[in-house]
Amino acid sequence: MIKANVSLKAYNTFSIEASAKRFAKFTSILELRQVLNLRNEESLLVLGGGSNILLTKDFDGLVIRNQIAGIEIIEETNDYVLIKSGSGIVWHEFVIWCIDHNFGGIENLSLIPGSVGASPMQNIGAYGVEIKDLFEKLEAVNIETGELHEFNHSDCLFGYRESVFKRKLKDQYIIVSVTFRLTKKHIVNRNYGAINDELEKQNISTPTIKDISNAIISIRSSKLPDPSKIGNAGSFFKNPVVHKSILERIQKDYENVPNYPANDKIKLAAGWLIEKAGWKGKTYDNYGVHKNQALVLVNYSDCTGKDIYDLSSKIIEDVSNKFGLVLEREVNII
Ligand code: EPU
Repeated sequence: MIKANVSLKAYNTFSIEASAKRFAKFTSILELRQVLNLRNEESLLVLGGGSNILLTKDFDGLVIRNQIAGIEIIEETNDYVLIKSGSGIVWHEFVIWCIDHNFGGIENLSLIPGSVGASPMQNIGAYGVEIKDLFEKLEAVNIETGELHEFNHSDCLFGYRESVFKRKLKDQYIIVSVTFRLTKKHIVNRNYGAINDELEKQNISTPTIKDISNAIISIRSSKLPDPSKIGNAGSFFKNPVVHKSILERIQKDYENVPNYPANDKIKLAAGWLIEKAGWKGKTYDNYGVHKNQALVLVNYSDCTGKDIYDLSSKIIEDVSNKFGLVLEREVNII
């Protein structure tokens, strides 16, 4: 069940070469418990889609890869449906399954890399929708005891790219299923500017959820590199949420700085800040900053995790010198 010295290159979307001292896959709660029982006094790394990690060195412990499958309708009325998904399912495949069954609310989250199980960990979001808007509950196995626990919405303490699983309960649970509440009478969310532009381009005035999904797939494909071709982990940094005074200071030099209200603070676009600091498209031998979206760092071929990490440190330092704010990494550094 457990293999020794396994390459993790195929298991991280950055395509970074690093090895796991011990490695196992699990396809059910039973198998997960068996693997956990075989764990020594060693560190543990749980991989879903591997789309939000940067491996900066070989992993001197046990890596377990989640492959729990299965999608099931657990409740259905005229208005809504509760769908339970195994946590190892690829996120976009789940989105497409829902859209094919005409279940809505999830279409704006099309083409986000990663697995269903990772989605609540960091409350994934795009184009005006976050997982917290459709989340019903999840089940997770406690790593120490092997017991199965259920977490409802409020237990998860969702925030911007945040949940309790990244904070207080970090490294304590493995998510095995997630249940979503989806609509059967749809309210499409097209408020995010780029969606409307794309729909207009395609001459669609009353879009279906499938139209919205297709529009988002084409926006994302045009701006974000496909990890199967160019190694990357989506947004490398979080968008900084800052006090209004920082925005006002930046506006003195850049009147049109993109900004969005976030409670009593302001969310700035990290991609914009990085671009204005001169990093967009900057390329070293085999890695760099993506040319269409400065928030995304890329591995063109066989760079190391340390290359990417050091590049991110330089960007953080430079943005801090230029704009007086410190960017936070969104990707988990291993
Ligand atoms: N911008 C630039 N230069 C850039 C990138 C962006 O000037 O290189 C500007 C854009 O013109 C726009 C603003 O920054 O005015 C925001 O850009 P965009 O709409 O592309 O979104 P983002 O804030 O950069 C966030 C998410 C993405 C998500 C998009 C769309 C984070 C950290 N990232 O990016 O999520 O797809 O919104 O909703 O919140 C991910 O998390 O991996 C991810 C890709």
